[in-house]
Amino acid sequence: SAAEKGGHDYFMLKEIEEQPEALSNTLRGHFADGGVVLDEQRISEQDLRDINKVFVVACGTAYHSGLLAKYAIEHWCRIPVEVELASEFRYRDPVLGRDTLVVAISQSGETADTLEAVRHARTQHARVLAISNTNGSQIPRESDAVLYTHAGPEIGVAATKTFLAQIAANYLVGLALAQARGTKYTDELEHEFSELAAMPEAVRSVLETVPQVRELATRMCDAKAVLFLGRHVGYPVALEGALKLKELAYMHAEGFAAGELKHGPIALIEDGLPVVVQMPSAKGHSQLHAKLLSNIREIQARGARTVVIAEEGDEAVRPFADELIEIPAVPTLLQPLVSTVPLQVLAAEIARHRGYDVDKPRNLAKSVTVE
Ligand code: G6P
Repeated sequence: SAAEKGGHDYFMLKEIEEQPEALSNTLRGHFADGGVVLDEQRISEQDLRDINKVFVVACGTAYHSGLLAKYAIEHWCRIPVEVELASEFRYRDPVLGRDTLVVAISQSGETADTLEAVRHARTQHARVLAISNTNGSQIPRESDAVLYTHAGPEIGVAATKTFLAQIAANYLVGLALAQARGTKYTDELEHEFSELAAMPEAVRSVLETVPQVRELATRMCDAKAVLFLGRHVGYPVALEGALKLKELAYMHAEGFAAGELKHGPIALIEDGLPVVVQMPSAKGHSQLHAKLLSNIREIQARGARTVVIAEEGDEAVRPFADELIEIPAVPTLLQPLVSTVPLQVLAAEIARHRGYDVDKPRNLAKSVTVE
């Protein structure tokens, strides 16, 4: 009924609006006495300290959250991190051992590809840490440590609030590792945590863009294809934006690292093609900001219709944005928590205008328990 959907036509929009709360619930209880607390922890302090390699394995949207984990964990812990699609991981005989940590991210905790990756890692004596939204599900049950996202049940097949919760969970895992290895001390951890703790409010404020994005969707629903560009943490967000549009609106969509534009994708630019660009913060990442700016000029000059997601007060980007969606200024690593939200709304609303069932896209299942 409409009441169950919080007054919306479909659950996904309700779940998008629940993201501030989902995020608070993920953070709540995972930080105490100046340290990160997992829900289950059977890895000794010494073993955690000895970790010298991290693999993140996941599928679909969870994989995109995993791509973000790499930026945070390498930056904070100085441990090399590889992020891999769970379905590819075990079939290529990855190098694993006792000092390897495998972080398995799965909302459902039941995805067969991810579960098999976990089992493979364990046979190779790697330690496994699960991030899941489902208490007692199979992947957490077979792992050495668990962090539950507590985002609440998600009905829409396309992941939204669990994605934001996974990003926050990844960062908590990064901080836990940094703490175990001594690369971050209590006061720095507290600072990082307070920045994270401010994010539910930032997501609440980005929800104010929903009416603007819904209106934009009415003008984009006939596009032949949509490209998404981003750099650094904006790159996984671009991939996620494209995946959402494929899943829900059955439109051809691709996400690219903006630096690759000149190595191929720019050939796709033609008159009227919508290109959604994730703009890094001018203050937080001035070099990348300048590079993206020149990308936008270039594609606009070739006829693209630029839809730019940029920090409030980013005046430099205005002349090149055919459509500007403003997001609050937040620390660089945390920008995906706000910049993903308009992309979720865009995909859902384009799908709705095209007459599709937003909560149950064709051919997809909420959790895929076959390999
Ligand atoms: C399915 C869903 C996706 C999801 C993926 C991984 O394909 O349709 O939305 O991202 O599985 O799910 P998991 O439960 O492992 O996070």
